[in-house]
Amino acid sequence: MYSNEQENHQGKTSGRGWNIVKICLLMTALPAFLALVLVNGAAQTSTSTAVPAFRIPALPYPQNALEPYISARTMSFHYGKHHQAYVDNLNRLTAGTAWAGQTIEKVIMESTGKPDEAGVFNNAAQVWNHNFFWQSMKPGGGGKPTGRLLEGIEKSFGSFDEFKTAFKAAAVSQFGSGWAWLIQEGGTLKIIKTSNADTPLAHGQTALLTCDVWEHAYYLDYQNRRPDFVQAFLDHLVNWEFAASQMKP
Ligand SMILES: [Fe+2]
Repeated sequence: MYSNEQENHQGKTSGRGWNIVKICLLMTALPAFLALVLVNGAAQTSTSTAVPAFRIPALPYPQNALEPYISARTMSFHYGKHHQAYVDNLNRLTAGTAWAGQTIEKVIMESTGKPDEAGVFNNAAQVWNHNFFWQSMKPGGGGKPTGRLLEGIEKSFGSFDEFKTAFKAAAVSQFGSGWAWLIQEGGTLKIIKTSNADTPLAHGQTALLTCDVWEHAYYLDYQNRRPDFVQAFLDHLVNWEFAASQMKP
């Protein structure tokens, strides 16, 4: 009996002591727990409000999909290295500025014509131009457009064949690095070429189609034969459905 009471007493005493220990532990741990919650909350808030970086869009097709006209090796360098480098440079140049988190179009429009912002413009425009270039092509492309786009081409250039001749001439004659474009301006279609990173977007023009004639676009596959690359682009790669989708009413 005594021993039971003693056990009970000891048991009660031990339970009370254990409760005191738990309270002490809780009081000790609580500030640390609250600090952890606050830090974690702040981190989550920081993440949720962080300005997203510019990102390279996924290619609309596998890197080997345009073979034999553009090799997977060319695509791996052109998309994976050159295009990626423009994206990385743009993120570095706009980090902490009002341009971080803006659309690429807004960055282009606000940096164009500003010598002090040439780096931002060049990289932003090259990101946009390349995004547009990948979409200007598709596996099994080429051929002839249809509908309103074909009518516009025939009206503006005389015939589809005359358009191809003029587009190839523009692409081949672009001195140094640049781009050949089919654009819509007002009610007509035009072929233009731009140097380096320059883009129709910066001139208020509507781009429908582009061919990258920087050497990195074709040198591994065609070396100095830019005319052959442009011919392959026109005959086998052009995505006319994409070009038509860019037309304004
Ligand atoms: Fe390029």
